[in-house]
Amino acid sequence: MNIRKATVDDILGMQNCNLHNLPENYPFKYYLYHIASWPQASYVATTMTSSGEERVVGYSLSKMEDDGNRAANPNDKSDIPHGHVTSISVMRSYRRLGLAEKLMRQSLRALAEIYGAKYVSLHVRESNVAALHLYRDSLQFEVTELVNSYYADGENAYAMKKDLSVFI
Ligand code: ACO
Repeated sequence: MNIRKATVDDILGMQNCNLHNLPENYPFKYYLYHIASWPQASYVATTMTSSGEERVVGYSLSKMEDDGNRAANPNDKSDIPHGHVTSISVMRSYRRLGLAEKLMRQSLRALAEIYGAKYVSLHVRESNVAALHLYRDSLQFEVTELVNSYYADGENAYAMKKDLSVFI
């Protein structure tokens, strides 16, 4: 297994992984937007197939939040540069091997060290035990809010946040 930065050539593999593992899917151009705008922030886990081809078995897709709301209110905390984990998934037969934690750590480090993020945010389904364990217990994210009916099917989301100023 190899973990490396995601490139434009990985997008179809990432999209395939996303379609297999999550109900929240994105068009090709949304992956392209992430990789073109923040080329160090997204990662893939790959394996070699028996025919010698590299296959994406996991990814983390991350970005910096736009600061378009730099607004009127000087106390508005949204002014602080921060990142967002848009999506992460690992193919079922490659889970519980530590891949998601490694992918997340690579993305978080890049957001902090390369893009200057002071903190990172994400949303996760209230029922997603595996992802909650990963964020809360393995990576020490904190829940900031329970967002009612965040997802298209009506499920609530936890909004989570991790301070990156002390990230190792
Ligand atoms: N139940 C409880 N704990 C779990 C589970 C589970 N099913 N799966 C993993 N964990 C724990 C691991 O034990 C580990 O904890 P530890 O550090 O205490 O040992 C920790 O979570 C990280 O485990 P990894 O092996 O790194 O995680 P994995 O590679 O299996 O991937 C993931 C976790 C990404 C959540 C995977 O289950 C998956 O792809 N799920 C479907 C897609 C998904 O839900 N993505 C997240 C959506 S939210 C978002 O994208 C922002």
